[in-house]
Amino acid sequence: MTVGEAIRGHFPVFRDKVYVNSCSQGALSDSVRAAYEQYLAGWDEHGSEWEHWVERSEAARAAFAALVGARPDDVAVQTSVSAAVSALVSALSFDGSRNRIVISESEFPTIGQIAHAQELRGAEVVHVEAHADDYADAVDERTALVCATFVSYRTGAVHDVESIYGVAREHGALMLVDGYQGLGALPLEAARAGDVVVGGTVKYLLASAGLAFMACRPGLVAELVPTQTGWFADENVFDMQIERYRPHASARRFDAGTPPVPNIYAGLAGLSLIAEAGVTEIQAHVRSLVERLLAGLDDVGASVAAAPEGPLVCVRSTDAPALVAALGSQSIVTSERDSNLRVSLHLYNTEDDVDAVLAALARHRELLA
Ligand SMILES: Cc1ncc(COP(=O)(O)O)c(C=O)c1O
Repeated sequence: MTVGEAIRGHFPVFRDKVYVNSCSQGALSDSVRAAYEQYLAGWDEHGSEWEHWVERSEAARAAFAALVGARPDDVAVQTSVSAAVSALVSALSFDGSRNRIVISESEFPTIGQIAHAQELRGAEVVHVEAHADDYADAVDERTALVCATFVSYRTGAVHDVESIYGVAREHGALMLVDGYQGLGALPLEAARAGDVVVGGTVKYLLASAGLAFMACRPGLVAELVPTQTGWFADENVFDMQIERYRPHASARRFDAGTPPVPNIYAGLAGLSLIAEAGVTEIQAHVRSLVERLLAGLDDVGASVAAAPEGPLVCVRSTDAPALVAALGSQSIVTSERDSNLRVSLHLYNTEDDVDAVLAALARHRELLA
């Protein structure tokens, strides 16, 4: 299956809507719906399918690993990015001379809030702009953790995480990359991006809430002992003992409770749509749509919050909620953050979608900043 018109028919939302809101939630495909039904059918038929469900969780681990070029043993299966990051920081101590967490102004709230929660454990949080130079000014031998975001959910800017990783490494700090807003639409190689890369299936990975992952640099897991844990993180989940804490040798030590089985079924279906289409092909397709959109925005006199090198274009507005509502009344689904209209393009979008957005914006010029 390829991109654009070829795949669109598998996403029923396009029957009635111009859907350009993958930054918020990927569209539902017939295969993701079928995956949920398969989970229910198996549950009906067998009562419990624990072995198969655990095998599906391992399949998700492998699919996430393939997405970012990691080894499955370095990948933890999580229920959200928040759970993943909380598990990660639970393995760090902030009571010595390395007690700083450096985060950028582009982080998603969950990263900022988890970082500030570590103040209760002795951490000091330093905020910087999202450029590598700003990180370079702030990161030093006092830095325990550097947090960077791949694509800003607020502006669509793609950050140079590889250079930021260089800064973190130079000072011996651990680097965490939140890849959520790019994964599935842009390539991201974990080894080049950071020590730990997190993401989830809700957006460009085309599935629903309740499934995320955390990919660790080879060798890192052995250095980190999470205190946020659970029985699926044990070295032997079938041991069923309550006498000790012995975390798994692999990144499974960051898994916690019962795997989110229904979401894993859906996530695997979404991830395989992305793998079949190919991230590089998706990136090229999205790029051509973004360029068409940018040219048209110029024509209607709209300006963007940041030069979009990824799938998300943020258009400045005088009243973004009103603009989202105006487009919504014409069956165009978008979202807004920070006075910007968010238009995000993905493998199923076409030039017609872009033209529909542009025509609607031309009708609502008064709402463009
Ligand atoms: C960049 C980014 N990080 C994290 C999240 C949310 O993570 P969680 O899985 O904890 O809800 C989002 C969701 O919108 C996001 O855009």
